[in-house]
Amino acid sequence: MIPFNHLGWLFKFMGPVSYPRAATEELCDFLKPVSEHAALLDLGSGTGVLSEFAFLCRNDLQFVALDPAEGMLRFSPHFVQTHQARAEALPFDDRSFEVVLIREALHHFQEPEIALQEIARVLTRKGRLFIYEFDPSTFMGKSICMAEKIVGEPGHFYAPEVLKEMLEEHGFTVDVNRHGWRYTIHAQLQDS
Ligand SMILES: C[S@@+](CC[C@H](N)C(=O)[O-])C[C@H]1O[C@@H](n2cnc3c(N)ncnc32)[C@H](O)[C@@H]1O
Repeated sequence: MIPFNHLGWLFKFMGPVSYPRAATEELCDFLKPVSEHAALLDLGSGTGVLSEFAFLCRNDLQFVALDPAEGMLRFSPHFVQTHQARAEALPFDDRSFEVVLIREALHHFQEPEIALQEIARVLTRKGRLFIYEFDPSTFMGKSICMAEKIVGEPGHFYAPEVLKEMLEEHGFTVDVNRHGWRYTIHAQLQDS
């Protein structure tokens, strides 16, 4: 397993530089339609890198970050309210968030399907989900996947079209944007 609890300092330093500029701009576009002062959940937030990028374009939002590793959460930015928990058992009421963001964390979840159910539960009607992940159908994505499995991580890497289908089964409409061996998902929960 990767000892995230002891690696907060490293992710705080490396996280921002490893994120493609195009994806940052895309995140701002994704957040444009979000209501003023809406609640946003950064899931598997680590040190809150994605929240920091989101804050640059939407500093009015209420930022909440969740991660099981206290040693990562400790490095979260001041504007974030932190929760030490797992994505598979979110400690929030139904329809608490208008936005959920996940960066490089879904593949670490032990039970991604349960996490997706939980995300759909805590999102408001028409709530929006942004995911940034590695594509295991590329050489680089496959290499990272193999390396993570060797060190005992779950390695739940999904090709974009597979994750798209999974999200559609949970009631989302989904757009995929490719960034070489990485990709982003913009999903929106349908009215039910
Ligand atoms: C590669 S780090 C990414 C952190 C952050 N999102 C970023 O972009 O820097 C993966 C994170 O997923 C977290 N994680 C692992 N299992 C999890 C779970 N079941 N629920 C929520 N987060 C989890 C880890 O503790 C770690 O902080």
